[in-house]
Amino acid sequence: MYRTSFIFYRGLLLVITCIFLSLVPTHSAPETALIGQIPGFTGTLPSKHYSGYVTIDENHGRSLFYYFVESERKPSEDPLVLWLNGGPGCSSFDGFIYEHGPFNFEAAKTKGSLPQLHLNPYSWSKVSNIIYLDSPAGVGFSYSKNQTDYVTGDLKTASDTHTFLLKWFELYPEFLSNPFFIAGESYAGVYVPTLAYEVVKGIDAGTEPIINLKGYLVGNGVTDEEFDGNALVPFVHGMGLISDNLFEEVNVECKGKYYNSAIESCKIKLAKVDEEVDGLNIYDILEPCYHDEVLRETATIKLKLPSSFRQLGETERPLAVRTRMFGRAWPLRAPVRDGIVPTWPQLLNSHTVPCTDDEVAYAWLNDESVRKAIYAEKESLVGRWELCSDKIFFNHDAGSMIKYHKNLTSRGYRALIFSGDHDMCVPFTGSEAWTRSVGYKIVDEWRPWTSNGQVAGYTQGYDYNLTFLTVKGAGHTVPEYKPREALQFYSRFLAGQPI
Ligand SMILES: *[C@@H]1O[C@H](CO)[C@@H](O)[C@H](O)[C@H]1NC(C)=O
Ligand SMILES: *[C@@H]1O[C@H](CO)[C@@H](O)[C@H](O)[C@H]1NC(C)=O
Ligand SMILES: *[C@@H]1O[C@H](CO)[C@@H](O)[C@H](O)[C@H]1NC(C)=O
Repeated sequence: MYRTSFIFYRGLLLVITCIFLSLVPTHSAPETALIGQIPGFTGTLPSKHYSGYVTIDENHGRSLFYYFVESERKPSEDPLVLWLNGGPGCSSFDGFIYEHGPFNFEAAKTKGSLPQLHLNPYSWSKVSNIIYLDSPAGVGFSYSKNQTDYVTGDLKTASDTHTFLLKWFELYPEFLSNPFFIAGESYAGVYVPTLAYEVVKGIDAGTEPIINLKGYLVGNGVTDEEFDGNALVPFVHGMGLISDNLFEEVNVECKGKYYNSAIESCKIKLAKVDEEVDGLNIYDILEPCYHDEVLRETATIKLKLPSSFRQLGETERPLAVRTRMFGRAWPLRAPVRDGIVPTWPQLLNSHTVPCTDDEVAYAWLNDESVRKAIYAEKESLVGRWELCSDKIFFNHDAGSMIKYHKNLTSRGYRALIFSGDHDMCVPFTGSEAWTRSVGYKIVDEWRPWTSNGQVAGYTQGYDYNLTFLTVKGAGHTVPEYKPREALQFYSRFLAGQPI
């Protein structure tokens, strides 16, 4: 009797719930994606975390993995941000674990054990809802059941990510009204504007759900082969890494064009520049290089790319040159070109990125209990998680990003182009030069911006809400080096305040 009534009441409850649901026009965040306990973390989560897959192509079984952190302030009103790391081929868990995610990861005492997670006081979830997306398929936990999908490029990635967003908003419709921003760094300097452009095209076409895009942020972003290619020499000279003499010689031989010169004597001088900066950590010239044992042994690196792909990626220069210059020339000159962009592992025939320690990420994300807790697919389907994947063959087919920036800003979308000023991978000199080249009127002349009463960097504001900003002393991944300062400029930009 007792049992029957229990079932009855439960049934009644279900009926009531169903009626209720059918009256409510939108449903909310999927309970099945809600994360409960996070291995390595013992406290209480300051906001809700969700994760899982969105299938963007049913026929191919192509699915993208996301990790969504609700704002710790006011999720219903705070901006929603999509975060993308670059590569191409690098997982956005780089941002989650090392840059602005909700936790700081403390390595375990014994190698391979679970790291300890502490709350990050400078998490970007303090002021925004943030989606970390592994993109394209083949990167991080994202995958496809059809291997042909791993041959991809800028345009397909943008279109896939747009599909992801439309489907994601169907799952989380309560976030449709929040101001939406797209953010990323490094090669995401390509992902961000190309995706924003797709989103705007979708808005124009009335594609539902209508995304409330407000603007975008790019950190040390690959943008344009000429500007990025010309950025290194002035940077290394200004930073005191090459002599005045060499700088003068380069200028004489190269005639101010340090990129893709046809002049033999110029190439020789540029090779000398490369030699001088060879031993530095390209991601932050102030930091030592992290060397893992395997990489130490690969002094002479052999390419793993099949020759057919190598030829596809090559225009004037044999890829061997890039290898010789590994650790500094990428993605300075070669990879911003049209054509196949080798991923780091493909370039180096190694599973690691030079100078980059990914041990806590690797240990945490490949732990069985973690993968289960965050609903990542089994290793048998998606393989081991890697910081940068070598599964994909990536074609840079969108050309220069400047036309995208012009289009988006002229249509009222706000853009923040920021640079860690000690990054030699995509140096600030290139970003400063291209933002200026757009030709917009300066509305906020070059000035310091501050954090805690100290100069944190410099900024120049242009018409159409195009802002260039440097972060003093930061490397390639700005929030990793300057988390407090990063959270400050991020919050101010999202809020539409002067930085
Ligand atoms: C994979 O996709 C390609 C291109 O759409 C198609 O031709 C091929 O049949 C697919 N392979 C499988 C195993 O489904
Ligand atoms: C931006 O791109 C769209 C779509 O291609 C085009 O219709 C529009 O004219 C462009 N706007 C500007 C200002 O370039
Ligand atoms: C800059 O952004 C603000 C806030 O979104 C907006 O009101 C203003 O119209 C924008 N300015 C231009 C020139 O697009």
